[in-house]
Amino acid sequence: MRPMKVFVTGGTGAIGGYAVPALVAAGHTVTALTRTPQKSAVVRQQGARPAEVSLFDRSQLREAFRGHDAVINLASALPSAERFMLTSAWRECQRIRTEGSAAVVDAALDAEVPRVVQESVVMICRDNGDDWVDEDSPVDRFPLAVGNHAAEANNHRFSTQHGTGVVLRFGIFYGPGAAHSEQIMRMARHHIGFRAGRPDAYVSSIHLADAAAAVVAALDCPTGTYHIVDDEPVTKRDDARSMAAAVGRRSWVSGPGRVAALLGNRTTSMTRSLRVRNNLFRSTTGWAPRYPSVREGYAQMAAVLASRTSSTASG
Ligand SMILES: NC(=O)c1ccc[n+]([C@@H]2O[C@H](COP(=O)([O-])OP(=O)(O)OC[C@H]3O[C@@H](n4cnc5c(N)ncnc54)[C@H](OP(=O)(O)O)[C@@H]3O)[C@@H](O)[C@H]2O)c1
Repeated sequence: MRPMKVFVTGGTGAIGGYAVPALVAAGHTVTALTRTPQKSAVVRQQGARPAEVSLFDRSQLREAFRGHDAVINLASALPSAERFMLTSAWRECQRIRTEGSAAVVDAALDAEVPRVVQESVVMICRDNGDDWVDEDSPVDRFPLAVGNHAAEANNHRFSTQHGTGVVLRFGIFYGPGAAHSEQIMRMARHHIGFRAGRPDAYVSSIHLADAAAAVVAALDCPTGTYHIVDDEPVTKRDDARSMAAAVGRRSWVSGPGRVAALLGNRTTSMTRSLRVRNNLFRSTTGWAPRYPSVREGYAQMAAVLASRTSSTASG
């Protein structure tokens, strides 16, 4: 792949913390949207150039995007685990995904950027039980997914009007730096397992390092929507067991289990059965996950977190 000039939004978040260094390592010249001097310093340390512009200001974005070969939109504001159930906590995230993705596409069109990559989630797909979920499987339009659908629609508008539009629907992120998965791993060390939904329902995940490698590969793939998940989705029962095994503990209790489903649409993205296939992106780009399932990925994550703890203790 030829070196490109790439503009990244959300480059200072969990996936961004892997994606920006991976893009730099692949030889690309990277500009990342930042909102504070502290984050600008982090971005510089990663070998990228910070640009302090607003995600909602089309003219600022247009000037910042000019001369770039691709824009990658990874921005979001997912609520913390404690506030996940509050509809009001999703307002900023929905705004970023609807208004933000529209501004990104409008500015990319104005600046004649040839490629826009938009993050999305496989959790908008419909529960498919034990059967595989592909890119042409039906999606659901539950309230929390409104922003994801809007972001995907804006990306389709870009590819219809101008250039190459790529939607990456990621599975559940995990790995060092993914706050929710670190929290679940800490609970596992205290013999508490996390499982939302039926034990035999499937969950499709992706290690942040593999998600970042997919972001790099998306710079060289045709217009389309692609599922970015690992090779072997596991049942929720096996997911909780893999987490417990990674930290060498047995779970004495686990939850919220089937009770989560009673909370309706606000938990539907976590409780459904999604056995998602990654064949399309693999065959189109040659990308393959380094961690084929959470069994290997959680073990790597546990080792990194343990070494972080021991270096803090000795430091
Ligand atoms: N977590 C998952 O399991 C999961 C799974 C699949 C897909 N995804 C999606 O992947 C994307 C990235 O997730 P993540 O875990 O990396 O999120 P994250 O760690 O919360 O990072 C969010 C990023 O968006 C930026 N941002 C927040 N508000 C902004 C605003 N008003 N204007 C501009 N930038 C703003 C943040 O900048 P600051 O650093 O300045 O705050 C940060 O760079 C999200 O859209 C998420 O929905 C997540």
